[in-house]
Amino acid sequence: MARIDRQTVERILEAADIVDIVSDFVSLKRRGANYIGLCPFHNERTPSFSVSRTKGICKCFSCGKGGSPINFLMELEQFSYNEALRYIARKYNIEIKEHELTEEERQAENDRESMFAINEFALKHFMHNLKDTDAGNDIALPYLRQRGISQAMIDKFKLGYSIDKRDDLSRTAISKGFSERFLTDTGLCYRGDHDTLIDRFRSRIIYPVLSVSGKVIAFGGRTMRTSKEVAKYVNSPESVIYSKSRELYGLFQAKHAIAKADRCILVEGYMDVISMHQSGVENVVASSGTSLTEGQIRLIHRFTDNITVIYDSDPAGIKASLRGIDLILAEGMNVKVVLFPEGEDPDSYARTHSSSELQKYLEENEVDFIQFKTDILLKGTDSDPILKSKAIQSIVRTISVIPDQITRNVYVTECSRRLSISEQILALQVKKYRADFLEKETARKQRKEGYEQIEEIADTALSSSEINAETAHNGADDSALYPADYLRPFELELMRYIVKYGLANLCTGADAEGIYDDQLTIISYISRELADDEISISNKDLSMLYSAALAVSQGDNIAPRIEAERNRLKEIIDEKLNADLALLRNQATDIEAAERSEKLLHEDAEMQLNNGIDEFRASFIGHALMSDSDDTIRSLSTDLITTRYQLSKIHTKYAQLPTERERLADLVPLAVYNLKNAIVELNIHQLKEKLNGVWKSDDHTPVDQIISDMQKLSQIKCELGRYLGERILTRPQSR
Ligand code: CTP
Ligand code: MN
Repeated sequence: MARIDRQTVERILEAADIVDIVSDFVSLKRRGANYIGLCPFHNERTPSFSVSRTKGICKCFSCGKGGSPINFLMELEQFSYNEALRYIARKYNIEIKEHELTEEERQAENDRESMFAINEFALKHFMHNLKDTDAGNDIALPYLRQRGISQAMIDKFKLGYSIDKRDDLSRTAISKGFSERFLTDTGLCYRGDHDTLIDRFRSRIIYPVLSVSGKVIAFGGRTMRTSKEVAKYVNSPESVIYSKSRELYGLFQAKHAIAKADRCILVEGYMDVISMHQSGVENVVASSGTSLTEGQIRLIHRFTDNITVIYDSDPAGIKASLRGIDLILAEGMNVKVVLFPEGEDPDSYARTHSSSELQKYLEENEVDFIQFKTDILLKGTDSDPILKSKAIQSIVRTISVIPDQITRNVYVTECSRRLSISEQILALQVKKYRADFLEKETARKQRKEGYEQIEEIADTALSSSEINAETAHNGADDSALYPADYLRPFELELMRYIVKYGLANLCTGADAEGIYDDQLTIISYISRELADDEISISNKDLSMLYSAALAVSQGDNIAPRIEAERNRLKEIIDEKLNADLALLRNQATDIEAAERSEKLLHEDAEMQLNNGIDEFRASFIGHALMSDSDDTIRSLSTDLITTRYQLSKIHTKYAQLPTERERLADLVPLAVYNLKNAIVELNIHQLKEKLNGVWKSDDHTPVDQIISDMQKLSQIKCELGRYLGERILTRPQSR
């Protein structure tokens, strides 16, 4: 698949109607200006999924999922960005002009396609072997039956069988015109002596590994022999299309169930997944015997925040895999753990118990990680004080990786209660480990490239600061002040105005005659203010969002698009106006009154047009960003638009107050001021630290210098405040 050129992308995004697209998956009913239906992302009986055609977004008020049409499709169907675009293009019959690929790109693309094709062929071949050959019917099928696997599961997981022959697959494939190169590139075959081609899978049950979107990317083959001399499993090697650490067995079959249950169950093996499905527990995937990776956890996170890890009761194995729990917590997800009884695994348990017994077992035996680690680490130690202290350290370290501060605190309290240790001591330890962890993470992440690695740290800042901007403001918990952390709520607020109202004018009507130029937009006001004081956005993700917004606002096609929107609106409004006028003239008896009414109608139409354009300008940047190809930009902008903030709550409660939209000329400068003020405070704080350090360390910065710097900053702070006060007093009051 080639890239889609920019113009086509724009046409597709323009054509995408959120109501149309959501309606493909959800049955919607009109409710006021919006549409409403049952949320496709979670199970519910009363509809909380709301769709706004004018805003071009959808959102579940219960689980929070939704966004632009692109985002909706990506989340629900697990499409890539391009797949979502193609879906919309197909729907609206938009022809996609493929972007010219370089020879190299085309080659790489063709190679991948060829590998998928040959895997697909191999899959068919293995399935055919199982179903339609003597060996399949005599050896493989009975083996699966004896293990209790139903035909439905064989079909669902596309199980197959490889004949006991060195070249069964390679010969068939080559005779059908597939090239040897891709047989070896996919690892289906390898080169033996004298360069002969040998099938990797011989005399094995075949479990195909599918990607999230259902493409065949690898195979696992299990021997049916019990001899210890034969490897139990043979698996496809890594390849251009298969990166083991980023795939999960069964995710394709489980994804909808995971989203619905809002929980993913993690087991070890192929057979565990299949048996549990057969038992009716479908939200289950396997890490295929390797330890869980960050990539796999991210994959799950696309569908849910909640993971249940199932361990069978091999203590050595469990200890080795405890790190998986930390990885899940560090990703900001919640983790529960279920331990199976001695000698049982999910497969054996599912086979020997009814499906309701299995479900009941899972429900009754899930514990949180504190309980789990306490049990595992203290087992049989009779609370040996040294072991106990080690166990506590280990639990505390685990708590410290959780990005969200409130969640960390909850676990500290819980841990303190369970192990009867003072909460303060635990909290102190957590804080210490947290600092270590962040330092290591930062170092590690700096080594890797790209912004997505910053996410975790950004998230940390988001959760700790966003919840209570007030505490940040009062400088609570000063000692652990990270500048980006501290500034985040203020930066976030500015970005929110940009995303929500970007190209709207800062002032309207009377306001515009105040101290600002007439046509100053929200984004140009903010960017001018920041540039004047040489302020850059310190949070990586927000800074990306900001750059993207600036790029949109400087795009060359804005004027024509606004013009097009004006024409479109004008046509609709004029049509209505003409109908109203005709009606009026038809019924008019008093000419003067009729003229007055006509004038009113004209004025009204004019106002409608202006409001419509205004609305279009306001949401222009947000619209573009919510459909951006970058995941971070898309989700940040969606959150900023759909999250209900404190302010808007007050508005809905006291409807007579002017709306945020009407108060932008006050609110936006205030937000800019708040950020500047925070930066000054941060600097003062840093100087204070320095001043404290002077007495302790060998830092020989002259104290005088520090104090004079501090005085300058305090001065700036006063001036900032004065400026703001004057601005608000002198500006003509709106309404
Ligand atoms: N595995 C592997 N290679 C091995 C052993 C295991 O790749 N030599 C992987 C497989 O993905 C397997 C998982 O680790 O599914 C779990 O291993 P295990 O519990 O030994 O196998 P089961 O899946 O339980 O297989 P079965 O029940 O058929 O014995
Ligand atoms: Mn097993």
